[in-house]
Amino acid sequence: MRIYITKDYNEMSRKAANIISAQIILKPNCVLGLATGSTPAGIYAQLVEWFEKGDLDFSEVITVNLDEYKGLGAESEQSYVSYMRKNLFDRVNLRSENVHLPDGRISDSEEACRTYNKLLDEIGPQDLQLLGLGRNGHIGFNEPGNFFEKDVHCVELSQSTVEANMRFFEAGKSVPSHAYTMGIRSILRAKKILVVASGENKAEAVKKVFFGQVTPEVPGSILQLHNDVTLVADEGAFSLCKS
Ligand code: F6R
Repeated sequence: MRIYITKDYNEMSRKAANIISAQIILKPNCVLGLATGSTPAGIYAQLVEWFEKGDLDFSEVITVNLDEYKGLGAESEQSYVSYMRKNLFDRVNLRSENVHLPDGRISDSEEACRTYNKLLDEIGPQDLQLLGLGRNGHIGFNEPGNFFEKDVHCVELSQSTVEANMRFFEAGKSVPSHAYTMGIRSILRAKKILVVASGENKAEAVKKVFFGQVTPEVPGSILQLHNDVTLVADEGAFSLCKS
């Protein structure tokens, strides 16, 4: 595992964006696995800036996102498809047919998961998968539990995730209770994994995920078994890992 510790969020974003842009330059038709949430927003802003300067070309890039809320689609500002459009898809030259997320509007969970699993199989392994970490150590929406779920599945979000994500929802609108997410096998088949973490509220998760026991109680801990993981964490997120 490679670890980069940065002084703050901005430096973390730039470092991670550098790694992603190197991937795009080396393989213009690469498959990027993408994440949403507050941590990657600065990375996307940096990638957009480099695209606008003419330094990056997304015309052949294919993207697959980790997850989507069940019940939400593009009409909802809180959906992950809306987040991705606002932060990246509508701001660079990605082709609309090349961007993919689980379809939150499919109410039959089995069908939604089957459809996304099939698509992931057809597209093939991610060349690079970007991941944020939940405060409870989740990756995608693989919540702490008794076993690792392999493929795309529908999850009931844990109370801590619902609380953490409330900040993205207007007062009076509740966080959906379920989401569709890539499973652990869908994530681990990526050739390279890039994990980003910022702030002291992620310090416990970073410590448990990268230096604790491998257990489904801390879903991200399975990343210790992957052979090409890079962590970019700022000093706050890495603060409990220093000896
Ligand atoms: C988002 C996702 C989640 C987030 C995690 C951290 O697509 O899969 O695992 O990466 O919840 O979220 P933030 O960055 O908002 O702290």
